[in-house]
Amino acid sequence: MNNTSVEKIVVIGAGYVGLVTGTCLAERGFSVTIVENNPNKIKALLNGEVPFYEPGLNILLETNIKNKRLSFINNIPEAMKSNPQVVFSCVGTPPLSDGSADLSYVWQVAVEIGKNINQYCLVINKSTVPVGTGQKVKKIIETQLKERNATIQFDVASNPEFLKEGDALNDFLNPDRIVIGVENKKAEELLHKIYAVFITKEDQFLVMNIPSAELTKYASNSMLATRISFMNELAQLAEQVGADINQVKIGMAKDRRIGPYFLNAGIGYGGSCFPKDVKALIATGLDYAQPMTIIQSVEDVNNTQRMLFAQNILNHFGNSISQKHLGIWGLAFKPETDDLRCAPSIDIVKILLEHGTKVTVYDPVASENFRMLFKDQVNYAQTSQEILNTCDALIILTEWKEFLKYKPSDFIKLKEATVFDGRNCFDPTEMFYSGVKYFCIGRNSITKSLENITLSTTQGLSEVLKR
Ligand code: NAD
Ligand code: UGA
Repeated sequence: MNNTSVEKIVVIGAGYVGLVTGTCLAERGFSVTIVENNPNKIKALLNGEVPFYEPGLNILLETNIKNKRLSFINNIPEAMKSNPQVVFSCVGTPPLSDGSADLSYVWQVAVEIGKNINQYCLVINKSTVPVGTGQKVKKIIETQLKERNATIQFDVASNPEFLKEGDALNDFLNPDRIVIGVENKKAEELLHKIYAVFITKEDQFLVMNIPSAELTKYASNSMLATRISFMNELAQLAEQVGADINQVKIGMAKDRRIGPYFLNAGIGYGGSCFPKDVKALIATGLDYAQPMTIIQSVEDVNNTQRMLFAQNILNHFGNSISQKHLGIWGLAFKPETDDLRCAPSIDIVKILLEHGTKVTVYDPVASENFRMLFKDQVNYAQTSQEILNTCDALIILTEWKEFLKYKPSDFIKLKEATVFDGRNCFDPTEMFYSGVKYFCIGRNSITKSLENITLSTTQGLSEVLKR
């Protein structure tokens, strides 16, 4: 490896990935400029404010702005004037209506780089992009250089990001692995110099070709989504056969080859990534006449899971659903984020509203984002307790830590002492003995067998009394 250090880094896009990448690189000593073209976001960032909820990010951002390692700018041409050695592209790749990834932001970035590059630069794609995108980015930059009659060396690389929202800083600062897709040693060395401060073992740094790195990202998210859908489908069977999905999970997880992660049954995965990346992998399969049948089923099970949960609520209340006041705990697609993208809460609340139900919602951080979507169609509680004090029944959609502190006896306050738990936060046996009607995922056979025992004991007693 040669010894020239990486002095200037440009990161394009101040979303979850760009802002975390830029801030963490600055935290580790690099001089970073983040480019963001959304005027509202750039305004907040220039004031040192994080435009979304991500634990710890505001503190790290403030520190690195103060020590002048981190700065913000609103356009790529200006950022390229500083002649950065590396540019990380972290723009969004949302789904198009056919499920494939919308790469328009990625292409725009490539055009702007091609128009404004002045000296050698490594262009690193960190967004989640289909196989072949790296090659197309290279062609776009080459075309722009030709139009300028300029001969400037550059390389492209793929460096997919694996951070998860809510724990993004920890994931970035202490990664399980760094995957890089490169075409030559120079690009590999530059990336190694950047990531040397993040890795503790050399086998964390995985070097491959660009298509393999691009596919590794989709494969990883799809594998995690597959585990979730597998457990959700199994949870439906568990209900039928009298099994408890949590016990099944424990039994499986003790096998070290399987492990305990991403095996929680619930109302399915949401968020900005699993739903879109699963769809995009299916679309790539179709492009190559290679149907992704497993991953198509993963998507189908996930879509069904939240609908089945909503249907159980409708079935329980029957025609009286329009007279009910139901409370919702948790709106974000998972705890520790205010992100509502593909959150099950959106579909479930829509269904309840369509049936004329009065709905009051509570989330520790996502209520304001929810208000932007649902306005005054629902009521907003200030505390989780307020829901228990005012509603007929409770629906749990996100397993925030705050909710887990409640005791089963606390739910008796609900007018109908009824809880629909989409995240299996409580113990069905304890709920039963506290007098709460509790409906969860893949564990309802526990409640049914307790009801049967109680029924047969009561029947037995009345037989004895009759005699
Ligand atoms: P995001 O939509 O939150 O952020 C993208 C940002 O890029 C936006 O702020 C947008 O205004 C900005 N932008 C777009 N075009 C620009 C341009 N030409 N110049 C400057 N700024 C521009 O997206 P995100 O959640 O950060 O995701 C980015 C990519 O990373 C996606 O491909 C996603 O799949 C992937 N990813 C996301 C996560 C996650 O947890 N959110 C994790 C891993 C990978
Ligand atoms: C996910 C991946 O975990 C990250 O590695 C990846 O970088 C990121 O997508 C991405 O590509 O953007 P994230 O979407 O932030 O991260 O959230 P996860 O913690 O993975 O949860 C995703 C969804 O799965 C949530 O709705 C969660 O409730 C659900 N989930 C998770 C389950 O239903 N069961 C589980 O056992 C685990």
